[in-house]
Amino acid sequence: MLRVVMMLAALGVGAALAQQGGQSLETVTQAQEDPSILPAGEGQEETFYACTACHSTAIIRRSHFNREQWDRLMDWMTEVHGMSPLEGEERTLIVNYLTQHFGPRPAARGRNPFLN
Ligand code: HEC
Repeated sequence: MLRVVMMLAALGVGAALAQQGGQSLETVTQAQEDPSILPAGEGQEETFYACTACHSTAIIRRSHFNREQWDRLMDWMTEVHGMSPLEGEERTLIVNYLTQHFGPRPAARGRNPFLN
């Protein structure tokens, strides 16, 4: 009897979740990202769509690279992980965006590693 009650309760919760905002149960239980998870700016959407085919943006958001490092990462992502090559204007746009929003941490800025 208790099991039946628990099952019904679970079903009730599921149904209530499913009805929330007219979303399916799948959408409410899966963490979904959309471009707005990245800082607004030119290249936000392009970056989001080019980079989230294989992983979430978390791996990007915790990174702090300079332009050269981001640029190299684009090749690495293509050569090692099979990302479609990013070239031309789209590459410039995305590398600019990444450098502007996920550039070196402030403490590292201005410290030229070649002069140390
Ligand atoms: C084809 C799949 C694919 C695409 C598309 C892709 N990545 Fe990745 N990326 C990976 C994989 C797989 C890893 C994990 C590598 C590992 O853990 O060794 C990774 C790791 C990373 C890392 C962590 C690197 C580190 O060493 O800290 C960053 C940052 C990153 N990706 C950024 C991007 C950006 C920015 C884009 C879009 C321009 C992108 N990725 C697109 C597959 C992809």
